[in-house]
Amino acid sequence: MQIISNINEIRKIVKKWQKNDETIGLVPTMGALHLGHESLVKKAKTQSSKVIVSIFVNPIQFAPNEDFEKYPRTLEKDSIICQDNNVDVIFAPNANEMYADKNNLTIIVPPKNYQNKLCGLSRNGHFDGVATVVAKLFNIIHPDKAFFGQKDAQQLAIIKKMVLDLNMPVEIVSCPIIRDENGLALSSRNSYLSAEQKIKALSLNKVLQKIKEMYEKNETNHEKVLKRASILLDEAFDMEYLEAYDANTLEKIEKLRNNTLIAIAAKIGNVRLIDNIIL
Ligand code: PAJ
Repeated sequence: MQIISNINEIRKIVKKWQKNDETIGLVPTMGALHLGHESLVKKAKTQSSKVIVSIFVNPIQFAPNEDFEKYPRTLEKDSIICQDNNVDVIFAPNANEMYADKNNLTIIVPPKNYQNKLCGLSRNGHFDGVATVVAKLFNIIHPDKAFFGQKDAQQLAIIKKMVLDLNMPVEIVSCPIIRDENGLALSSRNSYLSAEQKIKALSLNKVLQKIKEMYEKNETNHEKVLKRASILLDEAFDMEYLEAYDANTLEKIEKLRNNTLIAIAAKIGNVRLIDNIIL
């Protein structure tokens, strides 16, 4: 397995593969890999003959008050995980390589209706940064397929929309949320939690499960359902949102129905966690 940090170099590798009719799967990440990322890699391996994992803590998707500096960087450990999963190449550029002219950058701006809700409200500019870096990765690597987790539901919807609107020749494959044995959705940010906070964090999934349970008992009034379930959130958390939208369009729904995204974000101390389910 090679670790490449240079754009021209990865392009050369990709060109060679394409000449040999290889199919290329890309798994974009910011590193600090866990079993959630690994599940994307495993899926990519079954659907493509070559797999590239990109590892890049993308500065332009972090607001100045966010955890860019603190974000865990564990390239050595990550490369062992990739190697164990038969990844062909890790693409790990540095910020200068990706943003040579960072003060004069062309930015991809996802539609307002996809941004003015959920994480978009508190993370100003976040999805511009995500869409821009993902578009760059697609242009550098030209993957046949790219693999994203349902864990970041708004991100997934935004990337699918970008690919559709800009006619990007890549198939977006969505992958289910991987949880630990207690139901906590895996996240690189879980490493910020104390043991006690980790237990309290289980309440996020409990809220979602309660909503699913009520829906399965034919309760479709989402205001009632969300309100009732929200009391299960541990009181150590500050709820940022608990909302229901159409999972593909992120449009408001009249009542709960199949393909409704229920998404939650809450903060404990300085740690902000997100989770969701699709009914
Ligand atoms: P990162 O947070 O590292 O996540 C990389 C990919 O792993 C995303 O598609 C995310 O949804 C997925 N993922 C994370 N936790 C998961 C879990 N518990 N189960 C399943 N999938 C999970 O998302 C990003 O990086 C960045 O925004 C990126 C797309 C790389 C652009 O910088």
